[in-house]
Amino acid sequence: MRYLITSALPYANGPKHIGHLAGAYLPADIYTRYLKAQGHDVAFVCGSDEHGAAITIQAMKEKTTPKAIVDKYHELLKTCFEQFHIDFDIYHRTSDPLHHTTAQEFFTNLDDKGIFQIDESEQYYDEEAKVFLADRYIKGTCPNCAYESAFGDQCERCGKSLSPNELINPVSTLSGNKPTLKPTKHWSLPLNKYEGFLQEWILKDKKDKWRNTVYGQCKSWIDGGLQPRAVTRDLDWGVKVPLKEAEGKVLYVWFDAPIGYISATKAWAEKNNKNWKDYWCDKETKLVHFIGKDNIVFHCIIFPVMLHAHGEFILPDNVPANEFLNLEGEKMSTSRGWSIEMHEFLETFPDKTDELRYYLTAIAPETKDADFTWKGFQTANKSELVDILGNFVNRIVMLTHKFYDGLVPLPGEAGEAEKNIALEIISQTKKVHDLIAQCKFREAQFEMMNLARAGNKYLADAEPWKLIKTDELHTKTIMYTGLQVAVHLSKLMQYFMPIKAEQLSSMLNFNRFLNLTPGHQINQAEYLFKPIEDELIEAQIQKLKKRVEEKIELAATAATPAFKPLKPEITIDDFNKIDLRAGTIIEAKKVEKADKLLQLTIDMGFEVRTVLSGIAMHYKPEDIVGQQVTVVANLAPRKMRGIDSYGMILMAEDADGKLVFVNPREAISNGSDVK
Ligand code: 2FM
Ligand code: ZN
Repeated sequence: MRYLITSALPYANGPKHIGHLAGAYLPADIYTRYLKAQGHDVAFVCGSDEHGAAITIQAMKEKTTPKAIVDKYHELLKTCFEQFHIDFDIYHRTSDPLHHTTAQEFFTNLDDKGIFQIDESEQYYDEEAKVFLADRYIKGTCPNCAYESAFGDQCERCGKSLSPNELINPVSTLSGNKPTLKPTKHWSLPLNKYEGFLQEWILKDKKDKWRNTVYGQCKSWIDGGLQPRAVTRDLDWGVKVPLKEAEGKVLYVWFDAPIGYISATKAWAEKNNKNWKDYWCDKETKLVHFIGKDNIVFHCIIFPVMLHAHGEFILPDNVPANEFLNLEGEKMSTSRGWSIEMHEFLETFPDKTDELRYYLTAIAPETKDADFTWKGFQTANKSELVDILGNFVNRIVMLTHKFYDGLVPLPGEAGEAEKNIALEIISQTKKVHDLIAQCKFREAQFEMMNLARAGNKYLADAEPWKLIKTDELHTKTIMYTGLQVAVHLSKLMQYFMPIKAEQLSSMLNFNRFLNLTPGHQINQAEYLFKPIEDELIEAQIQKLKKRVEEKIELAATAATPAFKPLKPEITIDDFNKIDLRAGTIIEAKKVEKADKLLQLTIDMGFEVRTVLSGIAMHYKPEDIVGQQVTVVANLAPRKMRGIDSYGMILMAEDADGKLVFVNPREAISNGSDVK
């Protein structure tokens, strides 16, 4: 059988946490290892998702270019996956030219078939930055909860999905200005026209084949009625829309990203002398997407519609999406600091990657959200890996050395217990395999541990360490049987804990595909697992709490005053064009019919001039006579209320609108330079 396995392409906009690992990468890796061990023809592809506003916004935050961002995080993600032994056949990237042409060809194919509908709509535009604004580039007040920094696509406080025109007081995050509405043209995929196809393909056929959570989400999308979705954006970072009339437009990141699975397969096939079409166009191939639940609509509805409309591709056979992994009872969030990033775990526990794989599989969020706790990790490691699996392996290997110098003994006749264990090996192996094939990894791993439990119990009941004194032959039978359990454990462990499986098979000195025969020499015992100290676990919990507090403090200091965004950068030459001088107000009076204006007479040292200033609501004329001020002395004269104003005085204004004079700290002769 041929399989194409994909894991969601992570955005290369920052590190990814262990919730991502548990959701889309680890289960796909277990599944792929299993399929390959069964001799299937499998390609396991992934890569970095390097387009979209997620990347350009991160570039703004880090004051660098989108290219620099994706280069940096692509490397980080690739290395992290390697260190967790997620064995992709290829980890590609969507900035690769091969991907750009693949995505463009896909678009052109649909366009030539007349699939797209072209819509003209009004969209927010930043006049200063001269760009149409992606939803994420617009901030404003949430109409639902009044949060002032809601994004144009979603409010991060109340979670409501928004469209930019629902925001109150929208502001462009690029310039800080109010955006204007301007007409623009977009190509849309008319999902509404594919409702019939989706009803047939998903609602009729997948009810008992897909996870309930996945089927349920699809059903509610389809039942709710589908709308056309724009697949182009006015942006300059992304895959250019391959049409003359679409100058300045790129493909929407969610249009090009899943095509990334195809381009990754092409790149892998090219290097490995394979035909990519075997994996994408042959009905015998099974396509399986591993994703988190937030990506269901894209993988079960939008991408299949694209594939179906194109016509040459197979559709996903299964989309075993996972629910979310919480951390210590709360939602994991990198931005809030409440997360364990993959690279962070690797730095602290470089030799515990299999232990984490084990725990993440043991609590896998397959049917509902799950909770990672540091204590849970410590306990699973101690009471399951150390005390059951490790203990069993250690005892059997140690005793083989103690009794037989490490040589596998020739067994005598098997008793009832041995026959049961032999059956247990067969039945547990079958259970593990069947469960993995159904993507029930959590239960599969549990059944693997049940074999270790059975091995432990068998040894504890048979007590070979006592029996050796009275019944040498039966002791040999017990030791031989125990060693067979160890062998089969290592075969099952290879899917979940590849490094520990390797360590065990080298301890047993055997090739994973053989069984141990009498006379075979095994190697010395080594501890497979070690307990994790309380202090180390406690330190992780404290680190989390501290980081969240620091982030909250930082956010509080940044959020309290409503600072205006900075104006665009100027040079020192720009600044030097302004002639600032000290002057003294020698006369002040109200301007008729102007509530805000005062007419000031200012002694500039070299001359006396009239300046109008909008400070009447803040200062009484009689209170400011004699006040020294700073004057913009070379400002072009302006007429207000029929009076000419020759300059402007500098005032500082806070978020509440309080105005104060910006004046020399000590009296200085009028006309002095301010610089
Ligand atoms: O949600 C995400 O992180 C997306 N980058 C997933 C893309 S999956 C696929 F379509 F490429
Ligand atoms: Zn809100």
